[in-house]
Amino acid sequence: MKIIEALLGEHGAFYAQFAHLEQAIPAAEDAAQIREQAALLAAALGSHANLENELLFAALDPHLGPMGPLAVMRMEHDEIESALTGAQEAENVEEARTLLTRVIRVAREHFAKEERVLFPMALQVLDAETLDRLGEQWASRRGVTLS
Ligand SMILES: [Fe+2]
Repeated sequence: MKIIEALLGEHGAFYAQFAHLEQAIPAAEDAAQIREQAALLAAALGSHANLENELLFAALDPHLGPMGPLAVMRMEHDEIESALTGAQEAENVEEARTLLTRVIRVAREHFAKEERVLFPMALQVLDAETLDRLGEQWASRRGVTLS
C-alpha cells in the first residue's frame, strides 16, 4: 500500500472529527471542555503531521527542494501545532474556542492543498517501491497490520 493512500484515509477520519468539533465547540460550557477536545485532536493530528514530516516530506525533499510547496506545508503544520497547543492551555473559554476553530479551518485548507497538489506531485516524483516502503513504515509507526 502506498503511503499516500494511508494519509488520505487519515484525512477522511479527521473530516469526521472536524464536523463533530464544529458542533461541540459552540456548545462547550467552559475552557476545560475545549481543552480536552483539543488534547484528543492533538494526539491524532500531531502524530499525523509528524508521520508526514518524517516519512513523506523527507522523501520529497531531494526531489522538490526544501522551498516551494514543502516549505508552505511545514509552515502550516507549525501553525496548526501552535494553535492546538494554545487551545490546550487556554484558560478562557472564548480564547479556547477561537484557537480550536482556527485549527480546524487551517487544517481543512491544508488537507485540501495536500490532496489537490502535494499528494499528486508525490505520486509523480516518487517511484512505486518508495511509496510502498513508506507505506510499510507508516503502518509500523501506527501499529496497523498490513497483510
Ligand atoms: Fe500535512
